[in-house]
Amino acid sequence: MKAQTIPTIKDIKELKGKRVILRLDFNVPIKNGKIVEAMRIDRTIPTIEYLRKKKARIIILSHIGKDAMSSLKPIVRYLGQTMPVGFVPDFKSEQARAVVDGLPEGGVVVFENLRADDREEKNDPAFAKYLASFGDIYVDDAFAATHRAHASIVGIPKYLPSYVGFLIADELKHLALALKPKHPFLFILGGAKFETKMPLMKKFLKIANQVFVGGVLANDFFHDAGFEVGKSFVDKYDFKLTPLLKKGKIILPSDVVVKNGEGKKTTIKHIDELAVGDSIVDVGPQTIKDLRPILKKAKLVVWNGPLGYYEGGFDKGTTMLLNAIMETRATSIIGGGDTAVIALKLGVEKKLSFVSTGGGATLDYLVDGKLPGIDAILKNKKRK
Ligand code: 3PG
Repeated sequence: MKAQTIPTIKDIKELKGKRVILRLDFNVPIKNGKIVEAMRIDRTIPTIEYLRKKKARIIILSHIGKDAMSSLKPIVRYLGQTMPVGFVPDFKSEQARAVVDGLPEGGVVVFENLRADDREEKNDPAFAKYLASFGDIYVDDAFAATHRAHASIVGIPKYLPSYVGFLIADELKHLALALKPKHPFLFILGGAKFETKMPLMKKFLKIANQVFVGGVLANDFFHDAGFEVGKSFVDKYDFKLTPLLKKGKIILPSDVVVKNGEGKKTTIKHIDELAVGDSIVDVGPQTIKDLRPILKKAKLVVWNGPLGYYEGGFDKGTTMLLNAIMETRATSIIGGGDTAVIALKLGVEKKLSFVSTGGGATLDYLVDGKLPGIDAILKNKKRK
């Protein structure tokens, strides 16, 4: 799929006065009613502003959380700091229709969490039709939700001329670089859950020059090869990892940060030095040093998944590697999720070529090169 072939909001001829259903992904972490990380919201602002400037009437749809319990109210308050924005707490009420009918040109309204209605995740056609009835045009800029075949993602495009916003166009442009890579290309895979990461591993073993593995995934390799990994986290999986090493492309950490017992105290050990009470919590400094010459030569680095037990505060290895990447001339693409969170926490995202807003969507796109939400736009028959 070529990024430039996807119709974007720039291709919409007339926006003045048109009701635009804008699907965004405002599924951001909230703590005590406050937004913890706003990147996903901030990255949608250019699309909202463009539509406002063109005098469209904008109806924003989003989910938040896994079910009906979460509310988009904190996000509406956040948006309200930079633009006038209305809110419809019950999108099935008569009030929803009245608010949209009364929306002025350039006006913005947000409907409450779509998952308040279980027909959203079921991709119920009647629900999609109901949502579509609020608009003249559909714009999807919810990249992080494009892997979900839900009513607001794949259902609405059946009824309205459909386009993508600037965020999706930008995601596709950058993630496409990982699928047709420049070489030398280093792929970095961390985090856990080999079951979900295995397709990624197999794909990039084919197209990358080298694959560096960190996180729990590296523990799995060590465990599979018969090393003592003590109390380290390992995934439950039923495939053999050691044969993958034969390709000679996989690089594993040469040293690891190890914790023993309850305290915060850690030591750095070589992988063959672990005791039964040890648990691996991060990669060591020598590992990052070993990667430097590879990074120096690399034209492209694509990274998904943190290198250490970051939820427990062990993010030093990931931080060191991010810093090492920034010192190189390689194009650097961070594939969303926890790695993106660390980059944002460090405030280094502008020094990287691209930080994806997707979690599962980014992974699926990297594996398959396509997404249900993107297909729905490409195949849209209502567009003239
Ligand atoms: C995400 O956070 O990856 C998206 O918002 C999709 O959320 P979901 O996994 O709950 O469908």
